[in-house]
Amino acid sequence: MIATERLVLRRFRPGDAEAFAAYRSIPEVARYQSWDAPFSLKQARTTVAAFTTGDPAQPGWFQYAIDLDGQLVGDLGLNTCDNLRQAELGYTLAPAYQGRGYATEAVNGLLEHLFTERGLHRVSAECDARNLSSVRLLERVGFRQEGFRPENSWFKGEWTDDLLFGLLRSSWQSARTAN
Ligand SMILES: CC(C)(COP(=O)(O)OP(=O)(O)OC[C@H]1O[C@@H](n2cnc3c(N)ncnc32)[C@H](O)[C@@H]1OP(=O)(O)O)[C@@H](O)C(=O)NCCC(=O)NCCS
Repeated sequence: MIATERLVLRRFRPGDAEAFAAYRSIPEVARYQSWDAPFSLKQARTTVAAFTTGDPAQPGWFQYAIDLDGQLVGDLGLNTCDNLRQAELGYTLAPAYQGRGYATEAVNGLLEHLFTERGLHRVSAECDARNLSSVRLLERVGFRQEGFRPENSWFKGEWTDDLLFGLLRSSWQSARTAN
């Protein structure tokens, strides 16, 4: 659906369930996410089946598979608002593929699609304040930190701090023009 230099962002397919279960079962991947590790193949098949449907151009969640040479290496979640001009973003990359700029490339590819083809005005993201690789990723692609909410979430048995990030189409366009 969206091609970048090394990756394709596409719809999930049933054959992704094994790879999906494998990376969701890694404790470091689940640490700041809504699920707990291990993530069974049965859970993965049900989740992937739900991801295969849906329309990314409609309001609500759509999950893009991040595909490297035909292999599922991660996913991007996009929650589009009812007005179709704002959305929230989330991302996961299998650890074997981290540290090589793939998440940056995938998020940049999606942002380009959202701002140039779908005419979005603004994209938001939230993360646990301890999730430094996520913070670095958001800052690398141009998000600005807009808020800090101390002990805002009761998450996996403790109160945790949330960071709020945002990116306006105007800022994204200015940064591209400058580069
Ligand atoms: C958040 C997450 C996707 C970031 O993954 P990542 O591998 O650090 O991000 P990228 O794939 O963009 O790689 C960037 C890293 O590779 C390095 N890199 C190497 N080659 C690169 C390239 N060509 N382009 C950009 N960066 C490159 C960068 O320096 C950077 O390292 P640094 O953060 O130590 O400076 C990953 O940690 C993850 O999936 N975590 C678990 C799920 C999660 O918590 N999601 C977020 C919930 S809010």
